[in-house]
Amino acid sequence: PRGLPLLGTTLDLLAAGAAPRLHRYVDRRHCELGPVFRDSIGPVDAVFVADANEMRRVFSVEGRYPAHIVPESWLLYNEVYGYKRGLFFMDGEEWLRFRRVLSGQLLRAGSVPELLVAPCRAVAENFASELAAGQVVPDLESHMYLWATDVLVAVLLGERQYSAMRSELRAPTEQLAAAVHRVFGESARLSLLPARLARLLRLPAWRDFVDAVGAALTQGNAMVTQLIPACEGGAGLLGRLLAAGVSHDDARRLVVDLLLAAGDTTAYSTLWLLYLLAKHPPVQEELHRELTRAPAAGAEEAARLPLARGAMREALRLFPVAPFLSRYLPEDATIGGYHVPAGQLVVLSLYTSGRSEQYFPQADRFWPQRWMRDPGGAYRGVAASHASLPFAMGARSCVGQKLAETQMALIVAEITKRFRLELADEEEPEMVMRLVSVPSKPIRVRPVPRQ
Ligand code: HEM
Repeated sequence: PRGLPLLGTTLDLLAAGAAPRLHRYVDRRHCELGPVFRDSIGPVDAVFVADANEMRRVFSVEGRYPAHIVPESWLLYNEVYGYKRGLFFMDGEEWLRFRRVLSGQLLRAGSVPELLVAPCRAVAENFASELAAGQVVPDLESHMYLWATDVLVAVLLGERQYSAMRSELRAPTEQLAAAVHRVFGESARLSLLPARLARLLRLPAWRDFVDAVGAALTQGNAMVTQLIPACEGGAGLLGRLLAAGVSHDDARRLVVDLLLAAGDTTAYSTLWLLYLLAKHPPVQEELHRELTRAPAAGAEEAARLPLARGAMREALRLFPVAPFLSRYLPEDATIGGYHVPAGQLVVLSLYTSGRSEQYFPQADRFWPQRWMRDPGGAYRGVAASHASLPFAMGARSCVGQKLAETQMALIVAEITKRFRLELADEEEPEMVMRLVSVPSKPIRVRPVPRQ
């Protein structure tokens, strides 16, 4: 698009509702200019891609050490306080080494039943059994942060150890979840300002951010320190990392970042999922039938739950928590017929590709069955899996993908077994960007007990 010198197209972006509506601005540009365009938004010059095949091509040329954008405020924090963060912030050989260790545990084909299902189920059961029947869940967002943090603690410990230590860990888990939630709020506030300037001017936004990150890192480190003695030799993720030769310091660094990475992403994705289910009672009824058809299913089968998984994929397609994926290309490439030079930032527009009629007929409809396969192996509702990439793909895709999928399917299962969810508000929330995609207003649901 043509923009004004220096400002780029910042003014158009402001007209589209500024950063909270960046996904809409980019979507409009794709409609206007096609699946590949280049734009300067403020200081960022990027090539935007919304075509499914071209998105795959970007991952195929991402190189041995794929590089992505990291929020400026976080980089500055690490620089100023000399803090060494986990996987998301690493580069080069260091990244590859730790990535292999974590992928080996969390993404290995056999890891789901052993490592993930039992802890996710235990936490989901506790969550559902503590819901007050017939009452709107107060502050569902904080509940989701607590659940996400609790799940990760359970996976780190293994289900048996977690159940043994549950009451002892309750208070520190609650504090950590609240701290992670606060980091999100402060990061989102700071993301609207240039972080270096905010620091230079000692703005409250920078001070509050530093305070929140400091508290979350301190509590995260204290939690891991508390867990290590209980984990050594155990079957949980932390025990396995230590058994694989990861030092206590490196384990702390990796795990604290997993706790931070798991909070916002899983909490908001699940918030959207519960909202969509509450809005579509027939889907909940079909889910209930799916669950009662397989009451005695083994852990592995229960975690598969095709309709629950379809619902989750729909929530992530319609409301991708990270609607823009990014890569800096390590060498020249051709994307959508255009020459893109090495070093260029490429941004994948998941909001646009996920809502495109080209890939998803009735794209705006929440239709979990579209992800279910018929006996011939084809998706029933024509779903183009490669156009919805909420966890990215390739070597740097989400290392927590299997964990997130398992915990989301199981929380939906445990809630649906006991309750029907009703929406307590008529007014629809809008998707807005606050670092990740969040609802513009709190989601209020009421769990009504099944007879
Ligand atoms: C629905 C939930 C989640 C979504 C949608 C999600 C999405 C993503 C995406 C899109 C990336 C890739 C970023 C890129 O390509 O540059 C990513 C990376 C990552 N995610 Fe997740 N995530 C979720 C849950 C989790 C959980 C539960 C964990 C913790 C176990 C986690 C840990 C990470 C880490 C450590 C990375 C960095 C990987 C690397 O740089 O190699 N995520 N996530």
